[in-house]
Amino acid sequence: MGTSTERSCLKYLFHLAQDHLDFRLPEIKALLALRGKPFCPGENFKEKSPFWCLDGLCEEDVCGIMARSVCAKSAFELWGRGKTHNELKTSLLNYPSENMSAFMQKDSTYRINVYTFNKTLEFPDRIKKIDAMDYLPFGGTVSLKSPQHIFCLLEDYGTDPNNIPEHPNYIYFGRWVADGQRELIRSYSVKNRHFIGNTSMDAGLSFIMTNQAKVKENDLVFDPFVGTGSLLVACSHFGAYVCGTDIDYNTIHGKGRSSRKNHKWRGPDENIRANLRQYGTEKTYLDVMVSDASKAVWRNAALFDAIITDPPYGIRESTRRTGSHKDNNKPPDGVYTDSHVPVSQSYHLSDIFTDLLNFSAHHLVIGGRLVYWLPIYRPEYCEEMIPLHPCLRLISNCEQTLSSHTSRRLITMEKIKEPEESDSLSHLADSHFSPYQGHNAFREKYFSGQNKKLIKDNKSDVNGE
Ligand SMILES: C[S@@+](CC[C@H](N)C(=O)[O-])C[C@H]1O[C@@H](n2cnc3c(N)ncnc32)[C@H](O)[C@@H]1O
Repeated sequence: MGTSTERSCLKYLFHLAQDHLDFRLPEIKALLALRGKPFCPGENFKEKSPFWCLDGLCEEDVCGIMARSVCAKSAFELWGRGKTHNELKTSLLNYPSENMSAFMQKDSTYRINVYTFNKTLEFPDRIKKIDAMDYLPFGGTVSLKSPQHIFCLLEDYGTDPNNIPEHPNYIYFGRWVADGQRELIRSYSVKNRHFIGNTSMDAGLSFIMTNQAKVKENDLVFDPFVGTGSLLVACSHFGAYVCGTDIDYNTIHGKGRSSRKNHKWRGPDENIRANLRQYGTEKTYLDVMVSDASKAVWRNAALFDAIITDPPYGIRESTRRTGSHKDNNKPPDGVYTDSHVPVSQSYHLSDIFTDLLNFSAHHLVIGGRLVYWLPIYRPEYCEEMIPLHPCLRLISNCEQTLSSHTSRRLITMEKIKEPEESDSLSHLADSHFSPYQGHNAFREKYFSGQNKKLIKDNKSDVNGE
């Protein structure tokens, strides 16, 4: 195999899945950042295209990204491209032969695949296209079953299924390097998971969140609204140690009513630890505990490499916190006396996010990431509504539509500095922060006229499952 010094100016082509469209760029950027690499799009880069050419990478980077990505399907070392097969031929004939020769040796085996996006080709047409590549100096023997090298001709017929052109808009040819982790979406499906709840996060989104949080082996990850632990499951798959809290005793202890069809009560071992055991990652389970995310229960230190969470929106689960009837008499240090009887109070959404950002500013390591979902009433949404904090830099903000009027936005922030005394309150005065206060009424708006039909049909699914 040629070394990188012999083989220069390599470009890589990524084939992206078309689901999770808005999450692809933040995911790939985060995986690049995890390897200390910038995002360098090639010319004519289009974010919504199924094909991206990226510069400035080596094969090891590409394999590292593909070992994590659920948005990318496959990656190829790009050898040529063009708007027509003639342009592709010219491009391929100009490709440095020293970049190709290691894969074209006489004693090697290979196969060529044809992949068409937005068009299905009959088998004979595929064969014709492969035969037409005979101008390339393949020296080896074809092996369909177990080739040493796989090459791929990729044709892009656009993204409109109602307007498929006769000829492709663009054609690429390259050497296959690696496939992404789409399989995780199936193998970690909540349908087959031991312990689930009404709001369990689907596997694809859990892995996207984990990737956007740049979670890596031996990291310590915390979910303050842990529920059934779907986000912890995804983090533990990549070797992170995981822990979480939830206000709901039954959820943490795996008791109470089952969310499964035909099961009234949860079984004896339905809990988060058992979920990790199911996937062979129990050794990364630290613990979960019953705790109110609005209360300070952690020692004051930067404890976590990432905080990943799906806070309650009050649609399928209540937004509650503990408090006191005499909250006006709350002690200044926040510590109640032994005679204090906690009661459940409503927890306004804007407070949830204030607390979450403050908590993250205090308990993330520098460079650590907070990834969370923010519910949005679409007619009123503007970017200024995204809660900010002086210690957290906004990295990405992408939308998942839930209904015509509601959506949730996946927010990724990175800790850039330790909080100073002035920081804990300063962000509340920030004009950027206050607009979200209006979203206190998200629940009312969700259940307002616009969503009535959805609710009636019982089809509204806040978790995108
Ligand atoms: C959307 S669910 C999280 C679902 C979780 N990601 C999963 O995959 O199962 C939100 C969770 O927050 C919990 N919760 C609500 N208020 C809370 C509070 N004040 N402190 C901690 N947890 C709370 C609820 O009990 C619920 O389990």
